[in-house]
Amino acid sequence: MEVFDTINETQKHLKSSQNKTIGFVPTMGALHHGHIALIKKSFAENDLTVCSIFVNPTQFNNPEDLKKYPRTLDEDCKMLEEAGCDVVFAPTAEEMYPNLPQIKLNFGYLEEIMEGKFRPGHFNGVGIVVAKLFHIVKPNKTYFGQKDIQQVAVINRLIKDFSFDLEMIVCDTIRENDGLAMSSRNRRLSDEARAMAPKIYESLKLGEKLLLAGESIESVKSKISDFYRTYSEFELEYYEITDFESLESISKISPERKTAIIIAAHLGGVRLIDNYIF
Ligand code: PAJ
Repeated sequence: MEVFDTINETQKHLKSSQNKTIGFVPTMGALHHGHIALIKKSFAENDLTVCSIFVNPTQFNNPEDLKKYPRTLDEDCKMLEEAGCDVVFAPTAEEMYPNLPQIKLNFGYLEEIMEGKFRPGHFNGVGIVVAKLFHIVKPNKTYFGQKDIQQVAVINRLIKDFSFDLEMIVCDTIRENDGLAMSSRNRRLSDEARAMAPKIYESLKLGEKLLLAGESIESVKSKISDFYRTYSEFELEYYEITDFESLESISKISPERKTAIIIAAHLGGVRLIDNYIF
């Protein structure tokens, strides 16, 4: 496995592997089995697998979150090598942004809801860095996790709007045995908070159960608010019930269309997101 920290070396290496198909997994490192599942899928479907590790400062709207974001490059590289990754691109912020981008991306409706609403500027940062990475790596396929459902919608728009010649593959959310969605931020949870964290998945499953039993969207949302009031360790940011593709709110569930329940909550100073599709 080759590890590069410059755009030049990475491109030179990839150009020398002409005619090979490239699968690309962009990450911010602090890798876990969720990331590794993406790498393994890419390994199975492409000649070469490239992973980027870059804690992208422009997508953090909270400086404290950026500062505390875990950085574990050596461990990450070990996991990547075992999973069959061929090339790691791990640039510095100066390498990626010799000048701060002047361009601004606006994803319309996706800016107004959930992550867009609560993290202003976040998707501008994600869109720009992913576009830069696509230009650097020039993949045939790219792999993203369903865990970040709104990011998937944003990258879909990015690929269409900029006519990137690549295919996005969306992979299922990988969970711990107790249901907690794997996340790099989980390592920042205290033991007490970690013990409570599976309540997030529990509340998604509870929402599904209530909806399938015929309860209205309003009634489910109100019961979920009550659920979180009984667990005062949590601060619920949003709990939305939407069409799984457009992410628009729905007035009732329908057997013809999949529904997504999407949540963000703070627990012990850590912001966690998750979703469930049925
Ligand atoms: P990061 O949070 O490191 O996630 C990298 C990829 O791993 C994303 O596609 C994410 O959805 C996926 N992922 C994270 N946890 C997962 C889980 N439990 N199961 C399955 N997939 C999971 O998302 C980012 O980085 C950044 O925004 C990035 C796209 C790299 C741009 O900076």
